[in-house]
Order: sequence, then structure tokens, then C-alpha cells
Amino acid sequence: MIYFDNSATTAIFPESLDTYVKTSQRVTGNPSSLHFLGVQATRLLEQARKQIADTLQVTTEEVAFTSGGTEGDNWVLKGTAFEKQAYGKHLIISSVEHPAVKKTAEQLAHLGFDVDEAPVDKDGIVDVEQLAGLIREDTILVSVMAVNNEVGTVQPIQKISSLLEKYPKIHFHVDAVQAITKIANQNWLTDRVDFATFSAHKFHGPRGVGFIYWKSGRRLQPLMAGGGQEREQRSGTENVPAIVAMAKSLRISFEKVTQRPEHLADLKKALINELSTYDKVTIFSPKENCAPHILCMALKGIRGEVLVHALEEKEIIVSTTSACSSKKNTASSTLAAMNVDSALATCAIRISLDESNTIAEIEQFMIVFNQLYQQFAKIN
Ligand SMILES: Cc1ncc(COP(=O)(O)O)c(C=O)c1O
Repeated sequence: MIYFDNSATTAIFPESLDTYVKTSQRVTGNPSSLHFLGVQATRLLEQARKQIADTLQVTTEEVAFTSGGTEGDNWVLKGTAFEKQAYGKHLIISSVEHPAVKKTAEQLAHLGFDVDEAPVDKDGIVDVEQLAGLIREDTILVSVMAVNNEVGTVQPIQKISSLLEKYPKIHFHVDAVQAITKIANQNWLTDRVDFATFSAHKFHGPRGVGFIYWKSGRRLQPLMAGGGQEREQRSGTENVPAIVAMAKSLRISFEKVTQRPEHLADLKKALINELSTYDKVTIFSPKENCAPHILCMALKGIRGEVLVHALEEKEIIVSTTSACSSKKNTASSTLAAMNVDSALATCAIRISLDESNTIAEIEQFMIVFNQLYQQFAKIN
């Protein structure tokens, strides 16, 4: 099987699975307990926090654990809204955010907050001037993802950071779920970023665990009340085995990228070179300002789900744009925001690569794609 759906999820590294299992078996205490088993669990938890903080070159106080990207996004948006509502009720998100941001903003709008969407250009890049025009006296949050999960566009986080220098009270949130280990940290973790959200299963960690970079001095209302874990900010017994395994996966992922920094880009380039020779293929991912692991394309006249299943029959796994929208059979909201013709957008598929993929797999993909292309051409 060839697995090209790595933006949906990645397989846990065997080393991290081993860590997860051993930690579950051997570290049986609750970090909140006073006895030595609790102390042991706390030590491991804090070691994992330090490892993650060191990787991002931030302090341990700036790392908060969550259950993944969705929780992180919900927490930053709602936590900001509830914390700052006395000062303002206006939030700005981009028009291409993941549903974890978009739907959260919709919920907040139902609660009386005002939400504006900053538009994108035909490549899916946020228009920073238009975003600047949306900022108001009562704006409390700007949320722009680092890498779009459907087409791979890299957003101008540095430019937005410069813009927001003039507005120090606005929380700047970056959903970096698809960016970490794929594009260099300095692209999305600037000094002006207040919060960035991450999910372990996108970098070969366990599912259901993630973390937030939370700039020191910034405040969010907690969403989970209870025993006061995570410095009173997120109650609930910590998932120590998953957190320790996540820290390991992050370290290994960064090591792998450092060893072969151009590998993903080379795979994608080979894919684009081949696909561009087909008349009926449209590539939506921009040529520049795009992450090296995501390629969104359409085969004109063939619905995305038809192509996904035809490839699946040949043991090649891809998805229709995002994993979240594929089962709902909804067209890609990112392509709509990019003004892609809606009929063509229904033909979109997303190929998302991983460090472990090979040129041989790209070649095999192209052989199968070519066969399907000829078959579909006969039917059409
Ligand atoms: C950009 C982005 N944000 C948030 C999420 C949600 O992360 P999780 O699956 O950990 O809830 C995803 C998952 O696909 C994503 O791609």
C-alpha cells in the first residue's frame, strides 16, 4: 500500500509506541498524587514539556498540553473571547481556516461576538492589507493558520506579525498543526505570535494529544474546570504516556527532516512535473509559498471521491481535500475561498506526503494515475 494521506494522520513511530506502552505499564501514578508514583509521573511529564520547549526554543511555562489541534484551537479562540470580552468582542480569522477555528468562531458569533474573515487571493494567501483594514478598536484576536491543510498554502505569518506590532493587545493565534516539522519554525513562530496550536498525530505521535505554545504573560480563560492541572488552566488527569510519546515523536521528526531537508520538496516536485503533463489535471496548490508535503489537484470531470476510491482499489491512499470534509461530501471551503470554479472543486483530491515516502512510490502512483486517466478519458 502507498499511503499519501499524511495530512489526515500519520502512523505512530515504533519508538514512540514503545515509549507509550512502557510508560503506561511502568508509570502508574497520577501526577497530582503526593507519593513517589505521582512524583515519578510528574517528572516524566515535565521532562516531555522541557523537550518540546527546547525544540521550539521557548520556555517550559509556554507549553500547555491539550488533546490535540481541535482542543487547542477551541481553547485559544474561546479562552480569548471569554477573557477579553470586557475590552472587545471582535475576532478576525482567515477565510481558509480549519473547521476547528471556523466552527469555533461561528459558535462565538452565536454568543454575540463579531467575527470577520480576512479574504485570500487565488493561491489561498491571506491578503494582509485587507486583514489590516478589518482591525477595529475592539478587536481581541487574529487567527491565521501557518499552513493550509487542504492545499498547503503557507500564510504570511511574518508579515501579519509586523502588522500586529502596532496592536500589542490583540491575541495573535497561529494554527501550526500542518506546519511543524514541515516548514521552518521561524516562518510561523515569530516574537509576535501569542499562541500556536499543535497535534501529535500529524508528526507520528499518538492521536488525541497535542500542545499549545502560549506566550508568557498572555491570558486565556480555562475551558475545563476541575482539579486544576496544567497550572490551573486545564483540568483533567494528564495523559502522561501520550505526552511522553508525543515529545519523542517530535524529536524524531525534527531529526529526520534535518537529515534530509529537501526530501519532501523533491518528492512533490517529481509529482508536479509528471502531473503537469496531463491536459485534464489542474493543480490548486500554489507554486510558491506552499508546504512541501501537500498537493491539491483535480482531474477535470471526475469527482474527487471517485478518484479516491479508484486509487484505493490500486492500494494508493489519498483523500478528497481534508479528512474532516471528505465523509461529509462537502466541497472544499479553501478552494471556494480561492474562487475556484465549484464544479472543478468537487473533483479535488489531496495528496499529502511524509518523510518516509519514496520516489519509487511517486513513480508507482504515476503509473496507476496514467492508467486511470486513460480509462476515465474513454468513459468521458
Ligand atoms: C490545520 C489543522 N488544524 C487543526 C486540526 C485538528 O487537529 P486534531 O485532529 O488534533 O484535532 C487539523 C487536523 O486535520 C488541521 O489540519
